[in-house]
Amino acid sequence: MEKFVIEGGRRLDGELQVQGSKNSALPILAAAAVTGKSSILLNCPRLRDTDAAIRILRHIGCEASRAGDAVIVCSDAPKRYDIPEALMREMRSSIIFLGALLGRFGKAEMCAPGGCAIGLRPIDLHLSALEALGVHTEACGGRLCCTAPNGLHGARITLAFPSVGATENILLCAVCAEGETVIHNAAREPEIADLAAFLNRCGACIQGAGSDTVSVTPREQFLSCEYTIMPDRIMAATYLAAAAVTGGSILLRRAAPQDLLPVMPCFEQAGCAVRAVKDTLRLNAPPHLRSAKLIRTMPYPGFPTDFQASAMVMASVASGTGVFVETIFESRYKHVPELVRMGAHITVQNNVAVVEGVPRLHGACVQAADLRGGAALVTAGLAAEGITTVTGLAHIDRGCERFETNLALLGAGIKRVHLDVE
Ligand code: EPZ
Repeated sequence: MEKFVIEGGRRLDGELQVQGSKNSALPILAAAAVTGKSSILLNCPRLRDTDAAIRILRHIGCEASRAGDAVIVCSDAPKRYDIPEALMREMRSSIIFLGALLGRFGKAEMCAPGGCAIGLRPIDLHLSALEALGVHTEACGGRLCCTAPNGLHGARITLAFPSVGATENILLCAVCAEGETVIHNAAREPEIADLAAFLNRCGACIQGAGSDTVSVTPREQFLSCEYTIMPDRIMAATYLAAAAVTGGSILLRRAAPQDLLPVMPCFEQAGCAVRAVKDTLRLNAPPHLRSAKLIRTMPYPGFPTDFQASAMVMASVASGTGVFVETIFESRYKHVPELVRMGAHITVQNNVAVVEGVPRLHGACVQAADLRGGAALVTAGLAAEGITTVTGLAHIDRGCERFETNLALLGAGIKRVHLDVE
């Protein structure tokens, strides 16, 4: 067991390079299994989730190894099309391998991913879209057994909701199908465009990724390639929020300012000065934050649900009242009771949270229940008076690369302590 011990009240100052995107690295690692070639993936973050994806690649018979910030995958001779329950349980988003295995083998077996702390996470949109591509799914004993008895064929698919994972699974399958596929109401998140750019670099022909209509035409053959994974827009915003709540001033390098446009109003309404110059972002925080009035999470280019928790920390220490409406996941306020333990004034009714800012939070012992809520609790500890301890670091380590090291580089009083008790 481990915990973060945070001594709050220190301004964050300095420069930081933004990590590679977890939510782009995971589908691209899965895509590397589809091509049958060698892929060199640069800027791949070292995370529990990317480590889990590498283990899955090795399990199915790919060579996958790390070399610095790169992961090298060779998928010329994969052997298995099943993912064992233990590996699925390590990372719920292993569902992204469903499309990749179907694309590569025409079949796939894995246990149903199930829900997680933030919601039930159904996969009905994935399965109905894959069925349109010729996939037949049988649920046998909690496992998904998928086959394509007549091969994979292109289709016109309209998603009832612009699901990120479903869009990605369709792309991973459609690049190996006979005939064109067109996705309507596709997810527009930047990670979709990054996955498409990787697949196109490998010889696919995907057009329109990043818009709500994406087309995939059959490729001649796949190629080996080298690809740099996009910066993590959620972690960039998380570090900006940490600077904002500590009255700090930080420069983020290798950011992607255009991907953060949906969260810029939140920082501007809070009184922060944010300046983008090429691939850098500088934030100067005011001595005291103002609250953003209304934050409603929406599919991209709306406000990202993954930044809701950290935006709520900003509102917790701002003057005024902020209203949050979480429209994407049904259980994404697990950080609220922990923030209340730190002195935040937050009330929740269904998917609405009302946050009345307080002058200061105070340190407390808090527990992370999910990745983004855990990162937000650390941010709250940086702003709080006194000492905060955060447990549940396994959640945080899934997506925040070198989190305490980076925050300490910016001047935060934070260290990781190993607890004897298991
Ligand atoms: C991706 O999850 C991200 N994960 C999530 O980030 C992110 O919050 C989410 O997209 C929204 O942006 C990865 O990329 C690994 P969805 P995903 O399918 O693909 C419903 C993080 O912290 N839905 O767009 O699972 C679903 O219940 C994680 O990094 C169905 O109903 O998101 C949810 O309400 C958390 N049926 C909504 O759509 C389906 O078949 C959004 O889900 C699929 C989804």
